[in-house]
Amino acid sequence: NPAAQADLLIRQMTLDEKIGQLNQYTSDRNATGKITADGDKANQIRQGKVGSMLNVIGVEETRKLQELALQSRLKIPMIFGLDVIHGFRTTFPIPLGETATWDLELMEKTAHAAATEAAAYGIHWTFAPMVDISRDPRWGRVMEGAGEDTYLGCLVAKARVNGFQGNGLGNIDAIMACAKHFAAYGAGVGGRDYNSVDMSLRQLNETYLPPFKAAAEANVATFMNSFNDINGIPATANKYIQRDKLKKEWNYKGFVVSDWGSIGEMVAHGYAKNSYDAAMKAIIAGSDMDMESRCYKDNLKQLVLDKKIDIKLIDEAVKRILIKKFELGLFEDPFRFCNQERENKQTNNLANRELAREAGKKSIVLLKNDNLSTGKPLLPLSKQIKKVALIGPLFKATTANHGFWSVAFPDDSSRIISQYQGIKNKLDKSSEILYSHGCNINDNDKSGFEEAVATAKSADVVILSLGEAANMSGEAKSRSNLHLPGVQEELLKEIHKTGKPIVLLINAGRPLIFNWAGDNIPSILYTWWLGTEAGNSIADVLFGDYNPAAKLPMSFPRTEGQIPVYYNHYSTGRPAKDENDKNYVSAYIDLQNSPRYPFGYGLSYTKFDIDNLKLSSTELSNQKNKLTVTVDLTNSGNYDGEEVVQLYIRDLFGCVVRPVKELKGFQKVMLKKGETRQITFTLTPEDLKFFNNEIEYINEAGDYELFVGSSSDASLKANFKLIL
Ligand code: IFM
Repeated sequence: NPAAQADLLIRQMTLDEKIGQLNQYTSDRNATGKITADGDKANQIRQGKVGSMLNVIGVEETRKLQELALQSRLKIPMIFGLDVIHGFRTTFPIPLGETATWDLELMEKTAHAAATEAAAYGIHWTFAPMVDISRDPRWGRVMEGAGEDTYLGCLVAKARVNGFQGNGLGNIDAIMACAKHFAAYGAGVGGRDYNSVDMSLRQLNETYLPPFKAAAEANVATFMNSFNDINGIPATANKYIQRDKLKKEWNYKGFVVSDWGSIGEMVAHGYAKNSYDAAMKAIIAGSDMDMESRCYKDNLKQLVLDKKIDIKLIDEAVKRILIKKFELGLFEDPFRFCNQERENKQTNNLANRELAREAGKKSIVLLKNDNLSTGKPLLPLSKQIKKVALIGPLFKATTANHGFWSVAFPDDSSRIISQYQGIKNKLDKSSEILYSHGCNINDNDKSGFEEAVATAKSADVVILSLGEAANMSGEAKSRSNLHLPGVQEELLKEIHKTGKPIVLLINAGRPLIFNWAGDNIPSILYTWWLGTEAGNSIADVLFGDYNPAAKLPMSFPRTEGQIPVYYNHYSTGRPAKDENDKNYVSAYIDLQNSPRYPFGYGLSYTKFDIDNLKLSSTELSNQKNKLTVTVDLTNSGNYDGEEVVQLYIRDLFGCVVRPVKELKGFQKVMLKKGETRQITFTLTPEDLKFFNNEIEYINEAGDYELFVGSSSDASLKANFKLIL
């Protein structure tokens, strides 16, 4: 029993050894924060002063360091953590892109594949999944999460935790997951990274905390707290979220690691006088492990001697960490993740590459395909096109396809299928591929335009691949301008003047703004960053070997000034009647309220109709506590395909103002062309609960609307009552 084993060990530990367990150091690579130069790390490890390390990769390196840890008096092994965010040797789509699949099983599988590869390289712990809800695409880290919706975010959190942790810690292909960043990191003012968060406790509980709770319920081994303050208290020292919610109310038994240096940063925050004060505030608030700030190592002992903190706080933190070491099986065999043969086997896992290709194609969102209804859209393209021009700075870029947060092998370009290569692989031998770089991603150089235009003119079809650079999203990558960077839009306009049919691929780690393209380019695919197999995945969709079915996990704004724009906003007292209503209503005088592309939106090469909405009753009550909702889904187009049928509700009146729509269910269904199928959802009173102003999670009797459709714009509607 790991808890009893941990207790036994704690009894033998000196205070210094205990504090050592709470101390985590980085190696000297892949840092997302300042690396403190202390040449003494090896000695500290030997003395049992380091409980965990991050950014140590590979059997050889982890073994060397673990051997040092085993020279310590009590031979307590270290845990090795790493940001395995969307893959390890094989990279999968960035998490936001992969969320667009709405395929939970797939997300679990890719997380598990990543865990298997990482575990074979000596890694015990990933700092993932990031389960921060975010409604702000200016924030660079939206790429790493599941988007704006809490319901979807909870399911994705659970799937990813289950994937990383597989059949449970102790299995050789399972690594500890980490629900981060606790909490509300995605709500920083202005979308600026590391910025402050000021929100009501009700909003915090209703929108931002549930995915963390879902992760805790899925037994996530660890939590990471966040850099931001919440209503004036830095998350790292936030007793309300770490002690009251997580450890008490949710009865969470894992441990909490700080974010990089976040304990020490409370000094700059103006919340701690010095590192002594910071260490005291963090341990009292329930931060168990100190990533890289050294505040615990330097101050906890003195804090105990000064009687500023009870040693019980330290014992509790140590126990939580030791339990995980026991559960991982590290005391039985500290080197069980250090097997060279297993590492070699996972160096090029072909099944994982296949999975990456599948995840990639399923993540691509078809935003536009003109003439879909006349049956003559541009996409899918024929594999026999005589001459196709590939234009743009991203066709031959390889490592860019990894996207941000591919920390293990960031420069491993040889394994990446470029978009150029993917298309070449797909086309018939008789087809000719013309290529022009056109312009760089983010500068003013138009010298390549002339050649690009000439290339376009001599082709039958042009495919443009534009977007952000991969390192323009991710940590510390907030942007105030979300348009295509540099002169890319100008290049697009020049190519458009040739009159050639154009397919536009947009690569990005967040929703971008591209209204001109949306108005003028006939076919647009949003391709995010898809990882190792990006080129093949994109080609599968372009040429119709896969019929796209992905749906946006975030609303796409029309302008930066519209941010935050999200589908589940609260009702106002002066709602606009329609997009043109500007008569003293809640609206912009110079812009529509709606986003350019709504949450849940995405097209297919086929056409789906949803009708015949029926409810089993117009009443839901604690007695009749299940409402069955059915619709007919028909594939009336020309291809087999999948549709994500989405169910939303609206609570029409409440003791607090309620959102205009809330996602409460979805189903991804494959239908042959011409096929009709009845789709069934169920709702229970539990699904209608919300937080009142006293932060109680309650049901309230009243009238509800229910919508079913293929995006958050769903308008097929019925009414029901909740009777209590
Ligand atoms: O896991 C990350 C975190 O998300 C941001 N700061 C650094 C950590 C470790 O790399």
